[in-house]
Amino acid sequence: MSEPIIISEKDYIIENLSTIVSLIPLVVQNRFTNITRDDLGIVKDAWIHVNNGFIKTIQSGPVPTDLQKLKRYDAAGGMALPGLVDAHTHPAFAGSRSNEFCMRLDGKTYQDIAAAGGGIASTVKSTRACSDVDLRQLIETRLHTFLKNGVTSVEVKSGYGLSVAEELRHLRILKTLQKDLNTTIVITCLALHAVPKEFLSARQWADACAAELLPQVAKENLAEFVDAFVEAGYFSVDDIQGYLEAAKRLGLGIRIHADEFSDAKAALCAARFSASSADHLQFANSEGIDAMAKAGTVAMILPGTSLYTNIPFTDAKKFTSRGCPVGLSTDFNPGSSPIENLRQVMTIGALHCKLSMAEAIAAVTWVPAKSLNLSYTTGALSAGMLANILVMPMTSPEEFVADLGQTTLRFVAVQKRVTT
Ligand code: NIG
Ligand code: FE
Repeated sequence: MSEPIIISEKDYIIENLSTIVSLIPLVVQNRFTNITRDDLGIVKDAWIHVNNGFIKTIQSGPVPTDLQKLKRYDAAGGMALPGLVDAHTHPAFAGSRSNEFCMRLDGKTYQDIAAAGGGIASTVKSTRACSDVDLRQLIETRLHTFLKNGVTSVEVKSGYGLSVAEELRHLRILKTLQKDLNTTIVITCLALHAVPKEFLSARQWADACAAELLPQVAKENLAEFVDAFVEAGYFSVDDIQGYLEAAKRLGLGIRIHADEFSDAKAALCAARFSASSADHLQFANSEGIDAMAKAGTVAMILPGTSLYTNIPFTDAKKFTSRGCPVGLSTDFNPGSSPIENLRQVMTIGALHCKLSMAEAIAAVTWVPAKSLNLSYTTGALSAGMLANILVMPMTSPEEFVADLGQTTLRFVAVQKRVTT
């Protein structure tokens, strides 16, 4: 398969663009809901000037003579879109769980497999046994695949360590990648992914995380967010109160794996803690959804997981109709969604979770950027934003959403944020 050209320099022109999907109307109004095709801010027959890593000008017509001396990339009539933002991934793992997929073919559910010692616990075992060098290499390779598929900003979770020492080890490895790679990496400490076998109860592990792990995470600046898997058999809303309070006190943001298999009242809990996102949400109730809309908590829908574990798809309209912003992410992980292509997830999500074409594009760019506190520089193509730009051999946003992630990108321009 051919590969896109990765552009990481800081001063250049992209010319001969038939179409630019800018999302400028959403940026101007700082709006994340009620998204229609007009909000795509389409500019025709245009060029983009990147100056010092930021977008300086987007304009129709010919490139002015004074700029023609700059390095020029020929889009050959293609289409530019914002670099994609994947706001929910679990790439810090070793080992394979293909046996579990085959167990599902034989009628077992995700929960049956976990109860029999598979699931998250099985990946914890193989990841604990993986050296720093090998784990770093595995994650780096995966993030490079994401980049080739158009993801220029990515949230990455820990959660396969599940002891204080192992969680810190994985987070420190993620931190080295955050520093060294081109991509913007946002790190989330998902210590409450499952109850480690060394602990007697969910509450005991959650309290240990609040008392020991999170203060160290904050001290070393290892993560910007915390996360917890709130579900029957994992953690209840009550179990995680102390953990979320500690996170707040330490200045860490909150994301929650919420209401995936049953209504665990996690959507409401996420809203009460002003979480940046609540994710999965198949069984979220209307009180929780209204509270999320009010709190500005993004509904992060993960259709890859529904597809791969054969559970219901989340209905996006339950959220959009109540004024709650909707994002789509891969949930890339070895057990429930081994999909490294957010464009593929966008097409599947648009169809099965019921998003419009324009909502689907915003759901993989502008909306997830908000949920990661990146929307001041990321998720749209407008002057002053970082030059995270995709160029596709296409001429309309409809082609992009219908593509199922099949087409090789022509260019991926990537600039990471300067902080942390
Ligand atoms: O988001 N739900 C919890 N965590 C992952 C699954 C992780 C795993 O099975 O290893 C998810 O689907
Ligand atoms: Fe997940």
